[in-house]
Amino acid sequence: MERINLAPQIRASISPVEDLLREAGKIAQASGKRLFLVGGVVRDILLGRKSIDIDLTIEGDALEFASHLPLTRISSHPQFGTVKLKEGNINIDIACARSETYPHPGSLPQVRWSTMEEDLARRDFTINAMAFLLSPADFGDLLDPYQGRRDLEEGIIRVLHKQSFQDDATRILRALRYKGRFGFKFAPPTLNLVLKDRKMLHTISGDRIRREIEFWLREEEPEKIFGDAHQLGVLKEIYSELSWNEEIDLRFRKARKFKNSSLYLALLTYQLSLPQGEEFIRLLKFPRQQAKVIREIITLKESKHLESPASPYVVWEILQGYSWQAVYAFCLSQEGPASHNAKLYVEELLPKSPFLSGRELKERGVPPGPYMGKMLQRIRKARFSGEVKTPEEEKKVVEDFLRSFPPP
Ligand code: CTP
Repeated sequence: MERINLAPQIRASISPVEDLLREAGKIAQASGKRLFLVGGVVRDILLGRKSIDIDLTIEGDALEFASHLPLTRISSHPQFGTVKLKEGNINIDIACARSETYPHPGSLPQVRWSTMEEDLARRDFTINAMAFLLSPADFGDLLDPYQGRRDLEEGIIRVLHKQSFQDDATRILRALRYKGRFGFKFAPPTLNLVLKDRKMLHTISGDRIRREIEFWLREEEPEKIFGDAHQLGVLKEIYSELSWNEEIDLRFRKARKFKNSSLYLALLTYQLSLPQGEEFIRLLKFPRQQAKVIREIITLKESKHLESPASPYVVWEILQGYSWQAVYAFCLSQEGPASHNAKLYVEELLPKSPFLSGRELKERGVPPGPYMGKMLQRIRKARFSGEVKTPEEEKKVVEDFLRSFPPP
């Protein structure tokens, strides 16, 4: 096989840890072991992208090997043979080369130690099944048994074998994520497997599906992924009532400047009814904060309170307590006064905090607790209505309030 050495590319992409990788390669060699840089970081180096997460694989005991490295240990999982280390802000994961077999679809794999070649054979896509050797004499040599480099150059996502999505259906969601991120295409046989195996997503726990959706929502252009997922019938497999259309796509693009995954989640779930929202939350086991955003966007859609023009203070009264993401998603999804009111809340009322800080209010004799809450409400009302425009005027409102309604 042609020998390809990419040491210069490694240096360009991950220069802060190059010395460390060379040192690690030496330490591994001293005990007769081969050490590799693997997975996504190899793909990113070949694409000329910067990587901050480094995955290493050693043919042997990862825990024992890690004990020789001069790095801060974050955690270790002896049962999986993995260790997490840290160097500055770079995370380094070390695993032992292993092969995996899946006793039945969706189950956790059975694992045994193996060579790097066998380890690559268990991976998801050709573009993720490459490794760089880190041994001193061969530093930067590329191990690429599935022509991942060619697929990377041609922009193709391809599974290694036709059982891949059955072994682990989350790979369908990963495939869509890489397709959206890199603007790649599916190899035709891989596309057919997505269509055939998408129903296997039912073998995956809600938690794991949700984690993948969270990854989608953190991508640069999540709407591309959702659009593909809809077109390929994957979105319906995630939750039967989820759909996608050009309007939602446009709203995602309008929300881009915030780069906020809860905002995208609210835009996605705007289409659901309250019972559907509850079902979606339960199925995918959304944690409290995200569940709150989902409930809020649907509640806002179903309530009629914001549909007519209202004063800033009334808008504040209606919306206070709602997350800004739900309110802004509502703004982007509606038209007319409802949209205008929501925009007013996020862009003008929320940032208009009182001039006086909590500490300054305390110094002026406002006790913390419910009384402070009432005082803040009074101040906001005065600010939103235009009664207060300067810190001096705000101080006056505070004094008047203290005099008219003395604290208990
Ligand atoms: N992997 C896999 N099947 C999965 C998950 C992961 O084969 N279901 C392999 C792939 O080789 C992948 C590597 O494990 O490259 C690391 O996975 P992960 O950290 O999730 O992804 P990265 O490839 O690092 O990509 P990114 O974080 O950029 O999404």
